[in-house]
Amino acid sequence: MDDRSPIPPRWLDPHFLQPPVPEPSILREGLLAALEEMRVWTRLMAEHAKFIRMGLDPNRAQEELFREADRFAVRLDALYDQTIHTSPHAPTDALYALREQTIHVVNELIRFKREIIQALEDCKALAILPAVLCAHVRREADRFVGTLERSKTGLRTKTYAVLGLPDGNRRAETLPRLLYGRVTPATLHTVAMEEILFFSRTHAEHAGHLALTFRPEVQDAYRREALAFEKAFEELLHLAMEVERSGQGMRKLLTESRKATEAFCAYLSKTLRDLTTCRIPTGQANFPPLIADHMRREALYYLDILHRLEPVLAT
Ligand SMILES: [Fe+2]
Ligand SMILES: [Fe+2]
Repeated sequence: MDDRSPIPPRWLDPHFLQPPVPEPSILREGLLAALEEMRVWTRLMAEHAKFIRMGLDPNRAQEELFREADRFAVRLDALYDQTIHTSPHAPTDALYALREQTIHVVNELIRFKREIIQALEDCKALAILPAVLCAHVRREADRFVGTLERSKTGLRTKTYAVLGLPDGNRRAETLPRLLYGRVTPATLHTVAMEEILFFSRTHAEHAGHLALTFRPEVQDAYRREALAFEKAFEELLHLAMEVERSGQGMRKLLTESRKATEAFCAYLSKTLRDLTTCRIPTGQANFPPLIADHMRREALYYLDILHRLEPVLAT
């Protein structure tokens, strides 16, 4: 190092090791983008905690896990209420604090989900909740936190491996929907690819889970439809990997994804209606109606992503 140099080396720059402080308008834009994600996902996170609570075997050995799941459900319900009652015109400090609080609580939920997955895999906890479904909701929570952290300073904090995407160590974009206009077309292309990979897998798993939990024989028509959706989303996952490899076919992929998701949404809405009006054969199914509603809202969220991306990327 030359001490006489008027320009300090980069590692002496106090800002070098820290992310740049965003301009006030960019800070505000990031907070509003985060709020929009939180309005969807804090409710879904509360429901994840309730599904875990409901899925544990009610013997005394699981009592502590049950209570912890319940505490998460209560905390996340409160966080959801706070989120939907927070106006986009709220002071910047309030929006900032709400985002930080959400990241903190959801990170704790992720830790809890990992603990449950491990306990189920080691047969140290008993539940009707499948370990694979617990891994599914853990990935959704990681993606959600990724969007909130991305809204801060553009930091990409989640790897493909953490989100269950092929290509392991790469950092995922996890870009909140309201920031799509802020990035280059090339980045938006990567965002589209990641979301299609993530949600094709997500919906295939939703359909596969429903197929397993409709009542055998009496609800076979519902089960067969669920299996067809599972297959359709698995095929879309493979098509997405092919488009990523070849760099061609994004228009077709977006269109096919949208059509399949619209059809899946309609199927989930009908299933939910049949469950809540007890018109499904035998009047009930082996899963609560909230599961169908939860999956329907995740499909609607993905449709919103596709509707935003299709006009700019379908070329
Ligand atoms: Fe979910
Ligand atoms: Fe899900």
